[in-house]
Amino acid sequence: MVERTGRKLLDCVRGFVDDVPPMWIMRQAGRYLPEYKEVRASTKGFLDLCYTPKKAIEVTLQPLRRFDLDAAIIFSDILVIPDALGQDVRFEAGEGPILKEIETAKDLAELDISKVLDHLAPVLETVRGVRAGIDDDKTLIGFCGAPWTVATYMLGGRGSPDQAKARLFALANPELFAQLMDILVEASAEYLLAQFDAGADVVQIFESWALNLDETNFKNFVVDPTVRLVQKVRKKRPDAPIIGFPRGASTMIPGYIKSTNVNAVGLDYAMPLSYAREHISPFATVQGNLDPLRLVSGGKQMLDRADEILAAFKDRPHIFNLGHGIVPQTPIAHVEALVNHVKGH
Ligand code: CP3
Repeated sequence: MVERTGRKLLDCVRGFVDDVPPMWIMRQAGRYLPEYKEVRASTKGFLDLCYTPKKAIEVTLQPLRRFDLDAAIIFSDILVIPDALGQDVRFEAGEGPILKEIETAKDLAELDISKVLDHLAPVLETVRGVRAGIDDDKTLIGFCGAPWTVATYMLGGRGSPDQAKARLFALANPELFAQLMDILVEASAEYLLAQFDAGADVVQIFESWALNLDETNFKNFVVDPTVRLVQKVRKKRPDAPIIGFPRGASTMIPGYIKSTNVNAVGLDYAMPLSYAREHISPFATVQGNLDPLRLVSGGKQMLDRADEILAAFKDRPHIFNLGHGIVPQTPIAHVEALVNHVKGH
């Protein structure tokens, strides 16, 4: 029989239901916190922050000192994988990530999977340090980007509203694209397993760009690589608890859960609660899905919508969260009000 571990959020991912749902906030460490900005300002580049365990541990713990959250998420980024593969990745202030695009077979051949875990050793040290720094009942979440989402940055060179460069590359160069996905599946599986070994309880696979895809591309770019990633992880760790977050996947979510076998699915804020209730298997844990701008605006509309979400998922495993990452202009008092409301304080 499967038993509770006492880590509330982990237990929820594994299917247990509580009266008060566990809660964390996507991108909970970040620029809405002055103490984060202070550490960030003391660090040269964003990637240096990810690769300096002492500082990464500190910013991971910051939100848990302020709010009654049930999990810490390792401070890092999904783009450490292309960086570890040897692609040139930079974060420019105000611009977000900029990568030297993969365009040719030669660019692809230069990616070196053999050094990924060595390169990411500091992140794994952060995982160990955070585990040592949080209470025993808190869940530690590790993560990676899903292969397609990471590929959109590797092929597009930066974020874009429609991922057109990556979609065109995949359609025009199916063989090169398949090779890139193989590399990303392999590197991400090793990375997730190493995070579990270092003390992560759960991992989340961020598929931030699951939108804008027709159903065939959704299967080929999103579902199949995620299936392979999950299978590789579970081959070594059969019980590995995994949250998938296919943002924008909408009505393709039930099929995504069935194919990938993730334990839990993150719902973006555009997912109607009635649809989720009717079509998402009650055996899958759901996570979400408050609009981050409701948290910026705060007050009654925020608490009313939180109540709608809580009521919709009352009778099934549910992790309360936002439907996408918290944004820098969010007032801290609104976060306090939301956490206290959800937790019934
Ligand atoms: O959740 C956490 O607190 C852990 C840390 C975390 C970061 N990025 C830190 C970060 C996590 C889980 C991520 C995931 C991530 N990174 C995603 C998936 C989630 C999503 O939002 O869809 C994506 C697409 C990225 C890539 C990325 N990193 C972008 C597009 C940007 C620039 C946009 C922005 O918010 O500035 C980043 C930079 C980044 N990653 C910051 C933080 C705190 C801000 C940069 C800074 O502080 O200088």
